[in-house]
Amino acid sequence: MRSDWRIRPATPADVDAILAHRRGMFEDMGFTDASVLDDVVAASRKFIELGLTNGSYRGFLAADDTDRVIAGAGLAITDWLSHPAAPKQSRRAYILNVYTAPEYRRKGIARRLMNAVLEHCKQEGFITVWLHASVHGKPMYESMGFEPTNEMKIVLK
Ligand SMILES: CC(C)(COP(=O)(O)OP(=O)(O)OC[C@H]1O[C@@H](n2cnc3c(N)ncnc32)[C@H](O)[C@@H]1OP(=O)(O)O)[C@@H](O)C(=O)NCCC(=O)NCCS
Repeated sequence: MRSDWRIRPATPADVDAILAHRRGMFEDMGFTDASVLDDVVAASRKFIELGLTNGSYRGFLAADDTDRVIAGAGLAITDWLSHPAAPKQSRRAYILNVYTAPEYRRKGIARRLMNAVLEHCKQEGFITVWLHASVHGKPMYESMGFEPTNEMKIVLK
C-alpha cells in the first residue's frame, strides 16, 4: 500500500473508477445482489459520463503516486426549485459516491475529499449541500456539521 496520495479532479476517463466506487459503496452498505448492482452500474454510467462532460457531475478523486484511484467523492449539480433557505438558488448540490478503498480507510482521505467538495460548493455559491448518509459515512458527516433533514420516502409496490 502506498502512502503518497493527492486529490485531483475526475475526467471522463475516470468513469470506470467512479462506477467501481459506486458499486463498492453499495456493497459495503449491505446490497449483495450482484445482478442488481450490475444494473445500478450500467444505468449510472451515462449520468456520470455526461455529467463529467457538461459539469453536472464533478468527481474528486484521491490517487496514489502511480495515479491509481484509491478514493473518491462525487458532486451532482442539478437544476432544482428555489427554497426559502436559499431563495436565489435554482440549482442543487448533492454529494454522492463517497468511497475509500478498504486498505486506505481511517487515514483522513474521505475527510480531505469532502473538504475539497465543500470548498468547491462554496466557490460555486451554494449555501446548502445535500447528501444521504450510510452507516459508515454518518460519523464523518456529523463531525463536519451535516444535520439530518425531514426527508421522507414511500416505496411503491
Ligand atoms: C465512509 C468512508 C468513505 C470513510 O472513508 P475514510 O477515508 O476511512 O474516512 P477518514 O479516514 O477521512 O475518516 C473521517 C472520519 O470519519 C469517521 N469514520 C470513518 N470510518 C469510521 C468508522 N469505521 N467508524 C466510526 N467513524 C468512522 C471518523 O469521524 C473519521 O475521523 P477520525 O479518523 O478523525 O476519527 C469509508 O469508510 C467507506 O468508503 N465506507 C463504505 C462506503 C460508504 O459508506 N460511503 C459513504 C456513503 S454516504
